[in-house]
Amino acid sequence: MKQIQQLDELQDWVQQETSVGRRRVLVPTMGGLHEGHLSLVDIARQQAGKEGRVVVSLFVNPTQFGPNEDLGAYPKSLEKDRQLCEERGADLLFAPEADGMYAADASVGVSEGRLSRGLCGGSRPGHFDGVCTIVSKLFNLIQPRAAVFGEKDYQQLAVIRRLVRDLNYPIKIIGGPIVREDDGLAMSTRNQYLSPEERSQAVVLSMALLQARQALDGGERDMLRIRGLVERVLSGSPLARLDYLETVHPDTMQAVEEPGDALLIAVAVFFDSTRLIDNLCWREEG
Ligand code: PAF
Repeated sequence: MKQIQQLDELQDWVQQETSVGRRRVLVPTMGGLHEGHLSLVDIARQQAGKEGRVVVSLFVNPTQFGPNEDLGAYPKSLEKDRQLCEERGADLLFAPEADGMYAADASVGVSEGRLSRGLCGGSRPGHFDGVCTIVSKLFNLIQPRAAVFGEKDYQQLAVIRRLVRDLNYPIKIIGGPIVREDDGLAMSTRNQYLSPEERSQAVVLSMALLQARQALDGGERDMLRIRGLVERVLSGSPLARLDYLETVHPDTMQAVEEPGDALLIAVAVFFDSTRLIDNLCWREEG
């Protein structure tokens, strides 16, 4: 597996690969890789086929962190991440320097104005402007045929689909299913911040969503009752502090009064200063 740090070297490589007609599939990450990310690399490998190239980008993007968030503390494990990408069959790891992606006086960005306003965008103002900007830059630099994003950040996935549609990127966006620990906790780089007690209580997120799924599958359509059920399970953890619980359409992120044919239940919960998210995307069968 090749590793590139410099933008001009990346551009040369992309040009070379394009000239021989090799398609690229991108998995954008911020490092701190776990099985959730690696499952996205597996999907990319499958999409790229034998001849194509799987590119993993690893960049802790400062513009998507708020002033009081965990940018400084965000786990960095480049050597381990490199090994994991290699083991999973990636062809290129693009890991630019912290100050390598933005000019000091950068003044152009990309923002999405509808899907990104609520949920994580409501709790983290400016977050999705940073995400849209860095993802656009990665798309422009790497020019992938497809890119894979995890469904744990379901709102991010929806915002990226909109970005690609509205800016006409010829890129297929693929969502990768949430990967969970044995007790149901969605895998996240931030799980390692949890104390043992917080870690054991963090299972309430997935438990709450599982109960909501069972209720929906059993025919429950009353949104208040579904929300009440989720809230009740979450309140079973004394250490959990609810940031938001939203019931929206998974494609538009707009609040829904009734489940209809599709529903996204998205939750964000603080354990001390660690913020965890999880979701259930439910679609009526048939
Ligand atoms: O999901 C992430 O890790 C980040 O938001 C992304 C897509 C790599 C952009 O920095």
